[in-house]
Amino acid sequence: MSNPSLLILPGDGIGPEVMAEVTKIIDWYGTKGGLKFDVSTDLVGGCAYDKHGVPLADETMAKAQEVDAVLLGAVGGPKYDNLDFSVKPERGLLRLRKEMDLYANLRPAQCFDALADFSSLKKDVVAGLDIMIVRELTSGVYFGEPRGIFEEGNERVGINTQRYTESEIDRVARSAFELARKRNNKVCSMEKANVMESGILWREVVQKVHDEDYPDVELTHMYADAGAMQLTRWPKQFDVIVTDNLFGDLLSDLAAMLTGSLGMLPSASLGAPMANGRPKALYEPVHGSAPDIAGQGKANPIACILSFAMALRYSFDQGAEADRLEKAVEKVLADGLRTADLLGEEGVQPVSTSEMGDAIVAALDASL
Ligand code: NAD
Ligand code: IPM
Ligand code: MN
Repeated sequence: MSNPSLLILPGDGIGPEVMAEVTKIIDWYGTKGGLKFDVSTDLVGGCAYDKHGVPLADETMAKAQEVDAVLLGAVGGPKYDNLDFSVKPERGLLRLRKEMDLYANLRPAQCFDALADFSSLKKDVVAGLDIMIVRELTSGVYFGEPRGIFEEGNERVGINTQRYTESEIDRVARSAFELARKRNNKVCSMEKANVMESGILWREVVQKVHDEDYPDVELTHMYADAGAMQLTRWPKQFDVIVTDNLFGDLLSDLAAMLTGSLGMLPSASLGAPMANGRPKALYEPVHGSAPDIAGQGKANPIACILSFAMALRYSFDQGAEADRLEKAVEKVLADGLRTADLLGEEGVQPVSTSEMGDAIVAALDASL
């Protein structure tokens, strides 16, 4: 049988820097960990625009549809701020999500013990935290029509449309309930049914899916604004949170700070199963291209490395290897290694992006 295939899209800014560390991990699995992958690399975002005039070439899109999993670094940066909206780097990522139909975006927020002091919240609020945000990723206000900037009388109007069909809500709700069954069996659904019709439909459909097929899972509903407040007040009340595209974007950045740094948060974007049974999948850190630190060796590669751990778990059925990689990350943090985003303890010198990657590879060696 041929090896599973990976398409790596490092992207812009710190994307290539953090992805270089993931490549070390992939190489480790190929040489010592007994898991070989066929890896190809391509462009997405601003670097693709520089070469092709578009943030995602059709050939790259076609490759992404064929491989077993896509790994993406990050896209965007100030150099591209003034480009026409249709070719902005972010459009490349959104095209991948939409055309691969990656409707369930899993964004786990876990607080490693060694980092419980790094959150801006009190240690006992975050210590031991392990929640999973399931963000709907292919619909809602990100994609709804009509959209655009239009002339209206003597001024312009900017329009985006929040739109959800029942089937779009149904399928992401199922993803959340399935995940909950493997965790602590609780789902909290967040919307704004008090002010939005799409929120009313969201709440109804999630409740119906629950009552018909997942009555064993505890389901609660919360307005998303209250949810943001509860996430900072006592985040450990949650297990799985399911929410729409825009609320999920905001709530997952908020959840990142519960773990100590945005540089810690991985994600998996999953779609329907392919012919080989594997879900269509793209794995990427939650953070962006971090232009303020790009090119300085300061980026924390852990979010990207943990995204690869999610690939092992969700695309390749290698849960034990995902655990091994996550434990390796936990070990280097427990040993006191910190990239610059995680400083705060007296006398601790930061390690570089590549030193952090090397230390995680060494911890993998030690785990054999
Ligand atoms: P950002 O996530 O790039 O950065 C926010 C802050 O977090 C910055 O101070 C940055 O230095 C820090 N940070 C982020 N990742 C880090 C890491 N791994 N290690 C250490 N520090 C890290 O968000 P932004 O500044 O709002 O956006 C910058 C660009 O990235 C924009 O063009 C935006 O559209 C894009 N973006 C892309 C993605 C993606 O590709 N998935 C996600 C978010 C933002
Ligand atoms: C994310 C990012 C993206 C989003 C952008 C870059 C398109 O913020 O993945 O969280 O808004 O979804
Ligand atoms: Mn975001």
